[in-house]
Amino acid sequence: MNHMKLFFVSVFALSLGACSSGTSSKPNPVDAATPSSGGLLVQSNCATCHGLEEESTGVAPRLEEVRRAWLTAYSDQEAFVQHMADFLAKPSAEKSKMPEAVEAYGLMPAMGYSKQQQVEVAEWLFEHSANEALALSEATASKTDRLEEGRRIALATKAALGKRLMAKMKEGGPLHAIEFCTLHALPITDSVAQAEGVEVRRISDKPRNPLNAADERERMLLEAWKARHAEGKEISAELQVRGNRVLGYYPILTEEKCMACHGIPGPEVSARIAELYPGDQATGYEVNQVRGAFRVGFGME
Ligand code: HEC
Ligand code: HEC
Repeated sequence: MNHMKLFFVSVFALSLGACSSGTSSKPNPVDAATPSSGGLLVQSNCATCHGLEEESTGVAPRLEEVRRAWLTAYSDQEAFVQHMADFLAKPSAEKSKMPEAVEAYGLMPAMGYSKQQQVEVAEWLFEHSANEALALSEATASKTDRLEEGRRIALATKAALGKRLMAKMKEGGPLHAIEFCTLHALPITDSVAQAEGVEVRRISDKPRNPLNAADERERMLLEAWKARHAEGKEISAELQVRGNRVLGYYPILTEEKCMACHGIPGPEVSARIAELYPGDQATGYEVNQVRGAFRVGFGME
């Protein structure tokens, strides 16, 4: 009853896929690398039985073999998509283009894909090879790893900065703490970075220190975050690929404790800021606004 067991494994994989695409990996307008849902379903689900690699999984023909047989039967995209979607909805020996596969493995179980999923998968397979699905799964795997690794590093930086800042504020109030920020904000991000072998920075569209100014693409991301945040929607971290570097961006929101220096600072603090940062743009914030981002850079030249 090997087939039965696999059937359950696959249905489980399908429901996990649906769940994670609904929560953590929301489609993001700024991230052009987000793969199509058809491609994702192929790599996360079809591949479980069909296998994307050269070797067969032993329970179903390799996906590329299936694809070739179906492209031979239907060279027209519309016919290909319609018939494959129909097979996935309700597999039967009559619809098969590979009678020897039905013979060897037994008929494919009906997996309970939605109508839309059937069409998306068929459309994807008309245009993409199994090899591409394999590349996609490798890219997605390293992508989520990077995003989470970056999140951990950003949190570590935030903790290091926050802890020292709180201590300095307690010690001598904001005027005293400014000196700490000035002297230590960059070196602390650098020490976390050195320990992790990555580059950590803070960026902002309204920088205090011009070294922290967001570039064009980063400004677009911050604008997108602000728009979502203003609508009360969740803003999520994002990876961007730039040449051979991968950059992870993690939102920084203002809190009550930032107001002494980023809200409407008192006269003494204002004077000191103006002295240290003549071009300061980082005041006038209210609590719970997008202040900028931690940027974690992997793969440095
Ligand atoms: C639980 C295992 C399993 C999963 C998951 C699975 N298949 Fe299949 N599939 C099979 C088996 C076994 C066969 C071979 C027997 C047959 O042709 O019905 C098959 C056959 C097929 C065929 C028809 C080959 C023929 O006979 O002409 C197509 C098309 C197909 N699969 C596409 C897919 C796609 C696309 C997915 C993902 C959306 C998928 N399968 C997921 C087990 C599976
Ligand atoms: C005691 C004053 C002070 C407080 C409190 C403070 N900051 Fe800052 N902040 C600064 C100074 C000074 C800089 C410039 C640091 C540098 O030169 O790199 C800065 C820089 C930043 C930057 C980097 C971008 C830029 O504008 O240069 C971010 C992001 C930031 N602060 C966020 C926050 C957040 C979020 C809080 C509250 C959790 C906070 N700050 C609390 C003084 C403060």
